[in-house]
Amino acid sequence: MKRAAVLGYPIHHSLSPKLHGYWLSKNSIKGSYEAIETKPENLINILTKLADEKYSGVNLTVPLKEQIIPHLDEISNSAKMIGAVNLVLFKQGKLIGENSDAYGFMQNLRVGAGELLPYLNHAVILGAGGAARAVIAGLLEAGIKKITLTNRTQSRAKELAKMHESIHVVDWNQRNEVLTDATLLVNTTSLGMKNQPSLEVSLTHLPSSALVTDIVYNPLETDLLKQARIRGNKTVDGLGMLIHQAVPAFDAFFGVEPLVDDAVREQLL
Ligand code: ATR
Repeated sequence: MKRAAVLGYPIHHSLSPKLHGYWLSKNSIKGSYEAIETKPENLINILTKLADEKYSGVNLTVPLKEQIIPHLDEISNSAKMIGAVNLVLFKQGKLIGENSDAYGFMQNLRVGAGELLPYLNHAVILGAGGAARAVIAGLLEAGIKKITLTNRTQSRAKELAKMHESIHVVDWNQRNEVLTDATLLVNTTSLGMKNQPSLEVSLTHLPSSALVTDIVYNPLETDLLKQARIRGNKTVDGLGMLIHQAVPAFDAFFGVEPLVDDAVREQLL
């Protein structure tokens, strides 16, 4: 029986066991995927134990995604670029670190919006946390021409902008004006999430041809996406990013590429 798990602290909120559990039963695979609460100081012990028990690997979530890096034997380019690991595979006694968040973000956009080329001229990114790093890595790999980055704490945006010369930082107060020639708008902040403050942004200057996406998926249609939809912009919600980032992990753990369809989405709502 193939086994995998998600490690984090806290971990009770993770949707990954539900997602992988659904795919296991849908594909009639005798396997298991559990959530293991893991404090940072216990990470290496728990990983060693799981590798000894012949687990295929694990997903990592907050606060373990960066901490693991010095302990890896190999790291994928995407994980290196993002500076975080969300997937560790145990292969021949080695720890292999990968990151599927950039893939998940881009795949969600491709499935939700179709041909992406028209949207890859000028992306405006709200927020400069870990999620923004993955979003930017995905967009850079896809060939985005220009990125405008804005964050409440500007120093974080400036640090992130070191990733590539096409990233320009503007003050958080400028977030409405910079939308004038945007082809893509992405919210990577936690604003607009259930029980979080709302995201105050005006889309008045945004061209109606621009694509708008939010990594927040609770609620599924955030105020940002609603505002965009009502004025005629194409929108893609954030739930698909979570689902698509899990596809390479499931494939690596259990040897089957799982299907992303409406039935999976409904499992998670
Ligand atoms: P993640 O790794 O999921 O991106 P994070 O690193 O905590 O999480 O980043 C959260 C993002 O939401 C940051 O861009 C944060 O802005 P700061 O860097 O200034 O903290 C943004 N954010 C959270 N609360 C905010 C608020 N009230 N106003 C503006 N931005 C906020």
